[in-house]
Amino acid sequence: MKPMIDLKKQYLDIKDEVLHLINETLESTQYVLGRRVSELEEGVRNYYGTKEAIGVASGTDALHLSLRALGIGAGDEVITTPFTFFATVEAILYVGAKPVLVDIEPETYNIDTARIEEKITKNTKALLPVHLFGHPADMQAIAGLAAKHNLKVIEDCAQSFGASLHGKKTGSLGDAGCFSFYPSKNLGAYGDGGMIVLNNTPVADEIRKLRNHGSRGGYKHECLGYNSRLDEMQAAVLIVKFRRIDEYNRKRREKAALYNRLLSDVVACPVERDGAYHVYHQYTIRSPKRDFIQQQLKEQGISSVVYYPIPLHLQEALKYLGHREGSFPVAEQAAREVLSLPMYPELDEADIYLTAEAIHKCLKG
Ligand SMILES: Cc1ncc(COP(=O)(O)O)c(C=O)c1O
Repeated sequence: MKPMIDLKKQYLDIKDEVLHLINETLESTQYVLGRRVSELEEGVRNYYGTKEAIGVASGTDALHLSLRALGIGAGDEVITTPFTFFATVEAILYVGAKPVLVDIEPETYNIDTARIEEKITKNTKALLPVHLFGHPADMQAIAGLAAKHNLKVIEDCAQSFGASLHGKKTGSLGDAGCFSFYPSKNLGAYGDGGMIVLNNTPVADEIRKLRNHGSRGGYKHECLGYNSRLDEMQAAVLIVKFRRIDEYNRKRREKAALYNRLLSDVVACPVERDGAYHVYHQYTIRSPKRDFIQQQLKEQGISSVVYYPIPLHLQEALKYLGHREGSFPVAEQAAREVLSLPMYPELDEADIYLTAEAIHKCLKG
């Protein structure tokens, strides 16, 4: 079966460097919050041009700790999208706040900023846009709304490492940018990991305290915190991949351009909004015949995945929010029609031709 992502190809490419750094880390015997995490934090801070970068245990924790450090808690409302990975909303619930969902744009699958204002109440404290599949959300509109209503902005950049809008990188545009280093992400570790970038040093200090059991050191605990540190071994892997992230994203864009060229006459291909540098964490097509296409691809030995088959408002775990089928029709239709195709920097062009040919065959008969 042709996979969605082949991490082995990339590993073989960087194996010597990775093993060298892992070995050095093992020899150093410094396994938690040591030199490699600091080195990666410094690199990411420079890349994003922010004052602070803080490694944490996962993308979910990056969102959770950011919300908490920014003072979001019980009784507060946080506006986000129903068309994202569950963790986006989990983080809001962890701090005791209420997720308030706003439907998406049909082309980018990101939050529809024209519909945000009608959901803002006196309890709204923050906007949490997700740069889904690697395409930046409309941060200009979001920044305008945040300034007008005095709201915090937490960016879910789990799928958008390296993406930018009008030359400004997603993650550096709000109060906190939250990244996931889950293995399949554009910048992926060999386990879990995450990072937060921001410019507010007191909030960053709060996050550093929260990731370390509420302690700034010396076994003094100022508050209840978490064990949420990025570990040295993962940082070592990430340092090697971080050196290549722009090249990886460039290659993803090249693959996407080829898919577009071969598929745009038969299905809806991903769009790039004016000024958007899409990093194609996923290459996602859309068709009313989605299930048929997926079945045909499977029969040809080609993997494809539906991200996401059930929008958040229809998830069992969030039933109590009181939404029904029809509450967010654009997200619901997307859930019925989207299909993500194999996408990774090392993907062979021949495989893209094969996938495109299989899709053409099944749609044109
Ligand atoms: C949009 C989005 N938000 C949050 C997360 C959570 O990240 P992690 O798996 O590192 O906790 C992910 C990925 O898994 C994601 O895709």
